[in-house]
Amino acid sequence: MNVKSITINIEEYGADEALSNADSALLAKAEEALKGSYAPYSEFHVGAAVKLANGETVLGSNQENAAYPSGMCAERVALFHAQSTFPGVPVLAVAITARSDRFTTTYPVTPCGACRQVMAEVEKGQKEVIRVVMRGDEGITQAVVGIDQLLPMLFHEEKLKKVNHL
Ligand code: THU
Repeated sequence: MNVKSITINIEEYGADEALSNADSALLAKAEEALKGSYAPYSEFHVGAAVKLANGETVLGSNQENAAYPSGMCAERVALFHAQSTFPGVPVLAVAITARSDRFTTTYPVTPCGACRQVMAEVEKGQKEVIRVVMRGDEGITQAVVGIDQLLPMLFHEEKLKKVNHL
């Protein structure tokens, strides 16, 4: 038996450390997206901004529902919106931020597993890797380059292809 280790790389920027203009601008858009959040149940508002290769920025925010599983995360709202509005245009970056009505978010909000899987599907369909930038109300900012950094050992479509026929 072997134990295999996987290393992921997370860029961390201190609260008063300067971000690149591109990261700051996209995080500002994610904050703007918070205005559209509908989160009466969790009172946790998430905003996402997707930067596309054609220069467009598409926003999304979490949309909750009284039947809880019918709701949708900010990241998937933004990515599906981007893909349906600009089909085939590569996604270069996604910025994510969050605000709670009840507490200060002092750590970056990281995407849930389902959103990571959707990001992986988007990245698989393009040449460009996706940069994901994450921040809360205050504290550090984190960034990763490539969805394999967020979702190692992911399920992808090659696994649907049968090589052995019975
Ligand atoms: N949520 C997101 O929108 N994105 C995430 O990355 C994590 C969670 C939303 C779903 C739900 O509306 C609320 O945050 C609490 O889980």
